[in-house]
Amino acid sequence: MSVWRRKPINLILAESSDEGKAALSRTMSMYDLIALGVGAIIGTGIFVLTGVAAAKYAGPGVIVSFIIAGTAAGLAALVYAELASLVPVAGSAYTYAYASLGEILAWIIGWNLVLEYVVAAGAVSIGWGSYFVDLLKSFRVILPDSFSRSPLEGGVINLPPIMITFLMTWIATRGTRHSAQATKSIVAIKLLVILVFIIWGATRVNPSNWIPFAPFGIGGIMRGAAIVFFAYIGFDAVSTAAEEVKNPARDLPRGIIGSLAISTILYILVAAVLTGMLSYTRLNTSSPVSAAFLAAGIRGASAFLAVGALAGLTSVLLACIYAQSRIFFAMARDGLLPPVFAVIHKKYKTPYIDTLLVGLVVALLGGFLPIGMVAELANIGTLSAFLVVSIGVIVLRKTMPDLPRPFKVPWMPVVPLAAIGFAVFLIFNLPRLTWIRFFIWMALGLIIYFSYGYRRSRLATIEEQRATVVLENLVPSPARKPDQEDRE
Ligand code: ALA
Repeated sequence: MSVWRRKPINLILAESSDEGKAALSRTMSMYDLIALGVGAIIGTGIFVLTGVAAAKYAGPGVIVSFIIAGTAAGLAALVYAELASLVPVAGSAYTYAYASLGEILAWIIGWNLVLEYVVAAGAVSIGWGSYFVDLLKSFRVILPDSFSRSPLEGGVINLPPIMITFLMTWIATRGTRHSAQATKSIVAIKLLVILVFIIWGATRVNPSNWIPFAPFGIGGIMRGAAIVFFAYIGFDAVSTAAEEVKNPARDLPRGIIGSLAISTILYILVAAVLTGMLSYTRLNTSSPVSAAFLAAGIRGASAFLAVGALAGLTSVLLACIYAQSRIFFAMARDGLLPPVFAVIHKKYKTPYIDTLLVGLVVALLGGFLPIGMVAELANIGTLSAFLVVSIGVIVLRKTMPDLPRPFKVPWMPVVPLAAIGFAVFLIFNLPRLTWIRFFIWMALGLIIYFSYGYRRSRLATIEEQRATVVLENLVPSPARKPDQEDRE
């Protein structure tokens, strides 16, 4: 048996069009997808991490950090768009890798996507908690530290992240239309708040705050890019919805590229306004967006922005829970995870067991760990997925050149190679400790693969059946005598 066995694309497509019990329902339009994308993308990265990245690493040069990280994400988005239109099934990068690079790399990708979605969701729920505590304060309600901080930061349990995670998990189990509609209204509030920040804030910019532009040098800007990359995580959540989209070949690429483009433009503008309003030295706070308005003496707007940030973070959380449960679903359908994760709810048509498990883990991360520990781990997991998927798109063009590709990556192979270059570059700019945690995670994943998926995967079962048939044909059964066969 080979760990490099690849899943045939026609088998993948047949499964997704299967009207049987495992099929998800196709209800989403392009606008739902863009809302899902923007909902998944704009969150902790811009609302929480921008301030710290500017204060500690990049200074006003954080604007350039956003451009670099955005370019990395944009190149990867083109790659995802081709694969999503070619293999429009649940599972995203995991499924693409299974078709192009073989089972073991698919497993590694799937395993690393857990870092992307579950761990990022943990970080997002903690960010939500800190904005929530801030907002309560403005109504003079003080939540004791014991119930609003992780045990590693002097508290007992961080309750707000747990609360919001359970609520979003419940919404996600109720069905895709429910989640898409909830996401759309939240996304509208989030966009409104960001636009108000940009337009109002622009009138308060003092250009002298942009000087010096790169107080920590080019290295600081690069390090900043590796951190604010977190802000772009999530566009690929669009591709995990592939099996629930009405017209995936046309709408998936538009959903992915459209939502990323909108977010990138907003990020660059927010970063410029934020560092222009307040000196980078004063941005070392977990709520920089409202802090900038507080410093400008506009208290009411500060509370308004906090509400918007909460809305923004809520939709990211929902999208991450949604995406991860689809990836578990796809992996279980392939036999790499136990079959219980491929069960679909009879009424809501959602992989509800996966969703509940994801919600539980996110709540544990959010309730008991500090934000810093988890955010960078999410970045390295995502970048490693970008890397493998970019290799996958090149391999598939070579091995299966004739497959219909409704969307094609331009300038092959320059774009995927550039995507690989950017991903490697950003990984190198992450701290060594993050690498170590990442390698531990990978080792754990390989142990699980070799002790479960390697033998139980559907492809392994098919291989085994084929091998048995071949063997039976080669070795005549001793029970059957030649004269018996003649008579037959
Ligand atoms: N991009 C998402 C955020 O910034 C994960 O919260």
